[in-house]
Amino acid sequence: MSAQLIDGKALAAEVKAEAAAETEHLKAQGVHPCLAVILVGEDPASQVYVRGKVNDCKACGIESREYRLPADTTQSDLLALVGELAADRAVHGILVQLPLPAQIDEKAVINAIPPEKDVDGFSPVNVGLMQIGEECYLPCTPAGCIRMIQSTGTDISGKHAVVIGRSNIVGKPAALLLLAENATVTVCHSRTKNLKHLCANADILVAAVGREGFVTGDMVKPGAVVIDVGINRGADGKLHGDVNFAEAAEKAAFITPVPGGVGPMTRAMLMKNTTCAAARQNGITL
Ligand code: GUN
Repeated sequence: MSAQLIDGKALAAEVKAEAAAETEHLKAQGVHPCLAVILVGEDPASQVYVRGKVNDCKACGIESREYRLPADTTQSDLLALVGELAADRAVHGILVQLPLPAQIDEKAVINAIPPEKDVDGFSPVNVGLMQIGEECYLPCTPAGCIRMIQSTGTDISGKHAVVIGRSNIVGKPAALLLLAENATVTVCHSRTKNLKHLCANADILVAAVGREGFVTGDMVKPGAVVIDVGINRGADGKLHGDVNFAEAAEKAAFITPVPGGVGPMTRAMLMKNTTCAAARQNGITL
């Protein structure tokens, strides 16, 4: 392997230390940052993610309130809980873990979270503000990706960035944030022609496809920065990224591992959004 590893855990620790310092600053002014996390059902991956988020809150001194609802929860019951939390001045951030069970309309739930408490950055208001470059809550995964790229010392400006995937949660916002950093951005997806060729010309390659080992060595430009957003449970029971790590690491200059890459950074950025929410809601500058 010739690539340098981008250590998501170490970088996340740095970001969480920032969030912890911000929490101290807020507490000194009588504001105790609080994140409400709602999990509906028993999806094993979601349970792991929620546990991680609650643990990160503890590590940063942020209060967390965990709501575990049964899989057959009705939409109106969930909306009622979100409404209560929306009205509770002691709660600064509301996170509803996705995906939700089929009987619940995800959009309706996201729309019920007030934009100022939407620390996931999923509400249409925050998405719109991000689009025009105004102050908002940035979605945690793409914001973490940008921070990881910057941590390598790479100047994003003018580089060709290729994002594989066009989800609302990762692909689209990652493309927008790279554009905001003055990259020339190509968004690839399942209908893209010449996908391999486009990827092989990327100075920065962000893989958010959801398919184990989708990015092979021939799709990586020598010296590229490769960010692997994928979390796929392999036949071996282990977690694997969207990138064939062994092959890509031979070509890239920098690469993120899975696990220990984008995942911890996503959660760390959530902590920052939560302290930011607590500050904004109380007129405090961090
Ligand atoms: N499910 C997968 N990723 C996320 C995320 O970033 N936020 C929420 N709420 N649910 C998710």
